[in-house]
Amino acid sequence: MNETTDLGTVESPATFDRIADTYDDVALSAVGRVFRDRVRAHVRPLVGPGVRVLDLGCGTGLDAVWMAQQGCRVVAVDASGAMVERARAAIAAAEQKNNVHVSTADIAEVDFRRMLALLPSNEQSAAAESETEADRFDVVVANFGVINCVPDLAALGDRLWAVLDQNASLVLVSMSSTSLTESIEAVLTRNRSLWSRRRSIDLRAESDVDGYRGLDVRYHSAADVEQALASHFRLEVAEAIGVVLPTFEQRRLVEARPRLLSALRWADATLGPLAAKTSIGDHHIVRLAPIGSETNWSERHDG
Ligand SMILES: C[S@@+](CC[C@H](N)C(=O)[O-])C[C@H]1O[C@@H](n2cnc3c(N)ncnc32)[C@H](O)[C@@H]1O
Repeated sequence: MNETTDLGTVESPATFDRIADTYDDVALSAVGRVFRDRVRAHVRPLVGPGVRVLDLGCGTGLDAVWMAQQGCRVVAVDASGAMVERARAAIAAAEQKNNVHVSTADIAEVDFRRMLALLPSNEQSAAAESETEADRFDVVVANFGVINCVPDLAALGDRLWAVLDQNASLVLVSMSSTSLTESIEAVLTRNRSLWSRRRSIDLRAESDVDGYRGLDVRYHSAADVEQALASHFRLEVAEAIGVVLPTFEQRRLVEARPRLLSALRWADATLGPLAAKTSIGDHHIVRLAPIGSETNWSERHDG
């Protein structure tokens, strides 16, 4: 279904529209929370009062609400109309409507400069406004597989770079190309489509894992993301999540075993930074900083 907003027209992805109503059951499951907490450990030092955030592929708004509660001014976008509807309800329920602007947009196409104009203003921004000539984003978050749905990561990086503050940070969480736990499951259950989904030649997720049927995705290691964005960004930190933890889809294995989950959580956090270098892990968290010298930053951005 096509949706038209002030940011243009977007074809709402049927796969994400279909799972929007049940998305939080997975995201807020015990495993879902462990994964998200690991990402938030990277985002937490970057967010705070007045920080200007762009949340790409915001889904049901879990992170947008959390970052707004930290005092951030958030622009959140998602291609799925059903996801945006859920996000809008969550933002209203958390009384964060003044701090988050949420709309439908395709991040592969939308003009990010237009999103700067959508940044909510709050007390901190009013005080800072006189000192800033133009708004830029301080933090960009794309959590849990959003960048896997974008055909050209390098082009996305180019367009994002143009709307970033010089000291900005990008936190991207990619579904990685090698999941140990998923491969073990595929071998034990002789599930060919599960085995091949991350290695698939046409890069299309063929298996109907938790309803993600027919989604056009590309799997990236941390090194793939670093390489794709290298012309404008340098890697600051990379970490794998889901090295020994079950994937979201395997969550039921540990849901009723809190002690096992706690042990796996500890082991996973310990192995995560090492595993990012070897491409193994269900997801990879990648934090990047834009490249550009202080003297020519404004010229290159505004020129
Ligand atoms: C797995 S969900 C992650 C949602 C959220 N970031 C979270 O952490 O829970 C991936 C989201 O990316 C969105 N998405 C996929 N491709 C997109 C695109 N080209 N533009 C905007 N959003 C997109 C989907 O609609 C979906 O809501």
